[in-house]
Amino acid sequence: MKYASRAHAPIGMFDSGIGGLTVAKSLMERLPLESLHYVGDTAHMPYGDKSPERLREYATGITERLCDSGCKLIVVACNSASSNALEEIRRTAGDIPVVDVVHPVVDWAVEHHPQGHLALIGTRATVQSRVYDALMTSHGLRVHSMATPLLASAIEEGFHNGTLSRAVVEAYFADGWASDKEALVLACTHYPLVMDEIRAQLPEGMAILDAPRIVSEHVATLLEQQELRAHEGPAKHRFEVTDWTSSFAAGASHIVGRPVDLHEVPWPEGQ
Ligand code: DGL
Repeated sequence: MKYASRAHAPIGMFDSGIGGLTVAKSLMERLPLESLHYVGDTAHMPYGDKSPERLREYATGITERLCDSGCKLIVVACNSASSNALEEIRRTAGDIPVVDVVHPVVDWAVEHHPQGHLALIGTRATVQSRVYDALMTSHGLRVHSMATPLLASAIEEGFHNGTLSRAVVEAYFADGWASDKEALVLACTHYPLVMDEIRAQLPEGMAILDAPRIVSEHVATLLEQQELRAHEGPAKHRFEVTDWTSSFAAGASHIVGRPVDLHEVPWPEGQ
């Protein structure tokens, strides 16, 4: 699609499903004039149990599609893809800037919890990549990471703020492994949707890093630096899924707090 200038073009973003919408919501609040083009790769959800090779294939395919449709910047709103496919995504995007959800959060942790010992939960793909561990330890932080593979799928199916999500979260934190740490990193964009359940398992006052807000702030700075900020509205958002699911349709409007007109764009496109 053609835009009057690059600044008028949308921000492209993607996740396996509804998780990245926690980042989309934060972007809408922080940058209300920016249009978003969101892809939920529901045909391949969950990403957390996929091999790095598969994740690279899916992530580069969607990146190509978002770049072809004219997006000015790509937000990889998924930790599993950010930890396993960032290099390939950047290569595919060429000149178009890419923001992942790992580096801004690590930078924030280094600044606000210097020398700290942090707890981290994420999908198996993210935890097994050891990307957070490598980045954090290289900056003098310590991190205890734990894969919580049941969570993203349960959340995608609409199980948040209820008995099942409480039970799953409780089981993962049962032995108190996170309680003596300084802060918790939610290394999956689905997890802010079970924030209350997680908070209930932690000592009062323990910090939980607000990854969507940290990433949005990073996007705002980058757009400013590259003179890509939209200066007039209204913002126009487009939401796509690679397979229409009722859970995505039901969850999306609820998460972003406004009606979502959902388009199915099958994978690979046109087949
Ligand atoms: N929300 C994604 C992440 O941040 C993917 C979760 C999944 O599909 O397993 O890792």
